[in-house]
Amino acid sequence: MPRLNRTLVLTVLIISSSVFLLFQLHYYRKYVNKQTVKKFLALTHRFRLPLFLADTTALTLLSQDALRQHDRKVREPHCSFLCTGRPVMSFALNANLWKHDSTFLSAAEQKGFELLEIRGQDPRLASLDTLSGEEIPLHLLFRLHGYIIQVVFLYERTGNYLWHGPLRLKAGMDRTFAPFKLLDYGRHAGAYDRPELVLTVLDGLDVRIPGNISHFILEQRHAHFLECRHRDARNFLQLYPEDSFPEAVDFRRKVKSLLRVTAGILTTLGIPFWLSSGTCLGWFRQCSVISYSRDVDIGIFIVDYRPDIITAFREAGLSLKHKFGKVEDSLELSFLSDDVKLDIFFFYEEGDMMWNGGTQAKSGRKFKYVFPRFSLCWAELLELKVRVPCETLDYVMANYGNTWNIPVRSWDWKSSPSNVQENGLWPPAEWDQLIQVY
Ligand SMILES: *[C@@H]1O[C@H](CO)[C@@H](O)[C@H](O)[C@H]1NC(C)=O
Repeated sequence: MPRLNRTLVLTVLIISSSVFLLFQLHYYRKYVNKQTVKKFLALTHRFRLPLFLADTTALTLLSQDALRQHDRKVREPHCSFLCTGRPVMSFALNANLWKHDSTFLSAAEQKGFELLEIRGQDPRLASLDTLSGEEIPLHLLFRLHGYIIQVVFLYERTGNYLWHGPLRLKAGMDRTFAPFKLLDYGRHAGAYDRPELVLTVLDGLDVRIPGNISHFILEQRHAHFLECRHRDARNFLQLYPEDSFPEAVDFRRKVKSLLRVTAGILTTLGIPFWLSSGTCLGWFRQCSVISYSRDVDIGIFIVDYRPDIITAFREAGLSLKHKFGKVEDSLELSFLSDDVKLDIFFFYEEGDMMWNGGTQAKSGRKFKYVFPRFSLCWAELLELKVRVPCETLDYVMANYGNTWNIPVRSWDWKSSPSNVQENGLWPPAEWDQLIQVY
């Protein structure tokens, strides 16, 4: 019996001391991580690098905490925000403020940080016919005691937004340098509005953070940016040069102005839209608009429909040209601005497909255009930040078939698209309601 007791006591002792040790380790880990962030921030302050906290886990903790302000004072001295329990922390930096000098990097190395710099092509030169291959810094990774600090470079793009590049390791780079899958930034390029920043104190450290955290986190989740395929576009335009007639130049100018107005209205209403049909094809195929297309096509998910869309467009000086269908089925709006037509197609979800409708005014015939399910990405067209389906090739192929890469000047919306289906007839008694032409 005493022997059993001894074993029991020993077991209990071992378990409790292991638990104690784990706790110690946990707090030690937290302590070390915080010291690493502190050391890093001290360096950035010394070199006047105005980084801001872009780490989604830390920012989420912070925004949750803002809802419970009273807890904050109690938890302040600990590490509540900067110790996320993850071995990585991300900051962002406006690349204009990066002085390209190596003194900051060597100072970091002197402090014990190991460094990995990821560079890539400057996309702002991609549209030009240059082979200069100038590379710019895209990401910096600092490692100390197994903890990774990521600095994302944000570049100003012509469409008045900030862009960061993807994080791609080159041959010979250390693939084990960081747990790359855990990083918030770099799986793909991203586009952001310029965030308003505020200086605050987190866990006793001075840190800049986005002024509207929930907005920033939302933006981060949908920031995926697609660069236009400039090289393919150049090849296409060599085969099929663009019209340089004054009408074509004039059309591009009008499209740009119409897209700008449209983006302004829909952003104010909080409605996401994307380039559809010919406008999407123009972006994808030639990084521009198809000058003989004569209209602008955009898509909106029907769940985002709001009745005040029409009023908002009218107030901005566009005239409603037609309204086909209804919210439950095949809704389509057309506006006219400066003799360019804007077609707004509303998209409906059905199983693993999305579709939009079409209506022939004179006959009441209905059509349906079916697309594989897609998500939305940012892109740039005519110096504007716009959305396109991320699965752009699938979308374009659904609409234009395998020969999308060959220009077709005579296009019949009722028969030419690869994905058009007959969809019956509107009941004549409802034509007044469902087929409105102005
Ligand atoms: C912050 O962003 C959210 C989401 O975009 C928005 O709903 C909210 O109005 C913004 N708050 C302020 C104070 O601007």
